[in-house]
Amino acid sequence: MHRKSKITILTGAGISAESGLGTFRDRNGLWTQVNIEDVATPEAFARDPAKVHAFYNMRRANAADASPNAAHHALTKLQNDWPGDVVLITQNVDGLHERAGSEVLHMHGQLDRALCAACGHRWDAPRVMDPQDPCPDCARPATRPDIVWFGEMPYHMEEIAEHLRDCDLFAAIGTSGAVYPAAGFCAEAAMAGAETVELNLAESDVSASFGQRIEGPASSAVPDWVAGLLAGR
Ligand code: OAD
Repeated sequence: MHRKSKITILTGAGISAESGLGTFRDRNGLWTQVNIEDVATPEAFARDPAKVHAFYNMRRANAADASPNAAHHALTKLQNDWPGDVVLITQNVDGLHERAGSEVLHMHGQLDRALCAACGHRWDAPRVMDPQDPCPDCARPATRPDIVWFGEMPYHMEEIAEHLRDCDLFAAIGTSGAVYPAAGFCAEAAMAGAETVELNLAESDVSASFGQRIEGPASSAVPDWVAGLLAGR
């Protein structure tokens, strides 16, 4: 890999697993315990906002208690030390990349941000949110977590499409490839000529579309991969 090359990286729940945050689809994952239709759709929020807030209040508390692990820190090192661009895109809402010092595009929103469903205003979420909380801008009691739910459009898609089109290397770390559009990023980048690598504990739904695979826990596989890139291997 040429040292001026541009690297675009997508991360998923697997990168935070060793920080103690559960993934969604692994054994005992969140979606084996809770129904998506009850907590992660706009319809669920319209039906029972208290239940949806309780779910995200719990996840916000878990994320606040967790710390970035060696994989998050290694990606910050890559962003700081690689001579070319390193764009980090995450599906995670836990905030661990920025707490490790990375710059990151959040395509599925952030647990620590609130969004007014009435006027679109955004602000820092309190640790515990309630359906009756008024929006600080329009005062209507329509506050929701700033999370992209199933059936909604992920954030930053135009910018992300550019980063997939013009990167030289695309890497996906700790993501199952079960949720589109993120699951299609490898194919998009490869079609535009990028090399592709998947780092995961196990095979994902889209492993076959990657040129290279590195199997192992993120906390060791990612630092090793970053060290190799920086050493020109
Ligand atoms: P998943 O739970 O679907 O997949 C987690 C992936 O991480 C799997 O492929 C695991 O093999 C891998 N994994 C687990 N532990 C790991 C470790 N220690 N090191 C490396 N890899 C490990 O999570 P995501 O792919 O992130 O969206 O899920 C995508 C989206 O589905 C989420 O952003 C969320 C969810 O529904 C919304 O809520 C909108």
